Amino acid sequence: GEGSHDARVMFIGEAPGRTEAATGRPFAGAAGKLLDELLASIGVPRASVYITNVVKDRPPQNRDPLPEEISLYAPFLDRQIAIIQPKIIVLLGRHSMAAILEKFGLDAMIGPISRLHGTVLDAEAPDGKITIIPMYHPAAALYNPELKQELLKDFQTLKKLLL
Ligand code: URA
Repeated sequence: GEGSHDARVMFIGEAPGRTEAATGRPFAGAAGKLLDELLASIGVPRASVYITNVVKDRPPQNRDPLPEEISLYAPFLDRQIAIIQPKIIVLLGRHSMAAILEKFGLDAMIGPISRLHGTVLDAEAPDGKITIIPMYHPAAALYNPELKQELLKDFQTLKKLLL
């Protein structure tokens, strides 16, 4: 994880890719560049938010994280959420969405990311009320202009919550 320890917003991606594994920083590669662009589109400095991943090590060949890997790293993510105490958590991609909605007892909400992205969900964190917004994963939008438009729109939703 990386970012402000006073962040109001925490972004949770899936797992480190090659660049992230090499540098030890989340969203340091191509998907990270797009995340930077999305943050800039709403005037939020990257250093003011906190960014991390559900799984903390790179799955071989970039395969999807296994359920055992998600549970193995869950205590680390729980500690990050407990320490940062974000008011808003943005879930990047369907794996992050499924894992975190389950963590917050919102299993019943889980559905296709094409339906849920941009939805503002209320949840109870150990330290109080929290808002959760699932979004498409920036990597999915790298070569898909339509998904990028959806991400830009969903970031506008985030911007309104920050006013
Ligand atoms: N994709 C992710 O889910 N996380 C990263 O940190 C980079 C790419």
